[in-house]
Amino acid sequence: MQEVTEAKKRMLSGIQPSGDLHLGNYLGAMKNWIGLADEFDCFYFLADMHTITVRQNPADLRRRTLEQMAQYIACGLDPEKNVLFVQSHVHQHAELGWVLNCYTMFGELSRMTQFKDKSAKNAENINGGLFTYPALMAADILLYQADLVPVGHDQKQHCELTRDIAQRFNGIYGNVFKVPDPYIPKTGARIMSLNNPDSKMSKSMPEGCVFLMEKPEDIQRKFKRAITDSDTENCVRYDPENKPGVSNLMSIYSSVTGRSFEQIEKEFSGCGYGTFKPAVGEAVIEVLRPIREEATRLLADKAYLESVCRSGAEKASYVAEKTLRKVYKKVGFLPR
Ligand code: TRP
Repeated sequence: MQEVTEAKKRMLSGIQPSGDLHLGNYLGAMKNWIGLADEFDCFYFLADMHTITVRQNPADLRRRTLEQMAQYIACGLDPEKNVLFVQSHVHQHAELGWVLNCYTMFGELSRMTQFKDKSAKNAENINGGLFTYPALMAADILLYQADLVPVGHDQKQHCELTRDIAQRFNGIYGNVFKVPDPYIPKTGARIMSLNNPDSKMSKSMPEGCVFLMEKPEDIQRKFKRAITDSDTENCVRYDPENKPGVSNLMSIYSSVTGRSFEQIEKEFSGCGYGTFKPAVGEAVIEVLRPIREEATRLLADKAYLESVCRSGAEKASYVAEKTLRKVYKKVGFLPR
């Protein structure tokens, strides 16, 4: 092996700035990233190029991208310890994305469930980018020779395809890409909508969704109105099958307080949902308060945020360029 063995494994993940960040993003993804920098070499980016596969208002996209950078930092992702960057600032993503498009099969892309879902939802705009999105995602990952990709369940299929593309390319040209593994953190909670515990918490159902920057009184209102279950027992018990609403609230409470389900059942034994729901709301408010305050402070310092973006893009570009060079050479492009 010619590769220098680095001490730390590399981790990479991205979130699309397609909507304001919410509790599901925080508890399901970002919170799990925070402790990883000591153990891994971490890259996190805002996948703005993926976002335009669905039509965006340009000013909103720009605002959200900067806001989310502030929120990443406010959540505890230290830009000195993690490489934080905006995808479109690192031109190698688009370039490798194109190459990998040519090593990704129509049939494979047609089988992606996210494509099927999104094209059903955006029937008026089923564009080529929406279809080839997984090849760009493969480029995002493979550019950095990532070992591990922390993702939610909905991205597992894209990670599998990334592995297939990497193996196919390596099979033709030799060892160019590290074949990455998905990393589904043990603690990663899957947070469901507060008013529809059968679907994932999502910005498209704002009444069931708690945003990171939301005011405490609005958060509390949403928790008080959260759907509990139609059983008659009015008792806090973890049973995702029969009590999805209460179990979701318990997952949230467990995630923010660190208490186990058994401890929570004990804590609220004899109390009805009327006591439990505002208690969850209160705990969430207290966890989000410092994040909101810090993000607000950072957003007032645009020059600082821009400097974080710039230095993140420089570091990312340095790594990405090495891979891209190798790829261009392998496929036979004439050197400039
Ligand atoms: N597709 C991911 C999502 O919609 C975002 C994403 C883009 C991503 N590129 C990535 C995640 C690379 C992990 C690694 O959630």
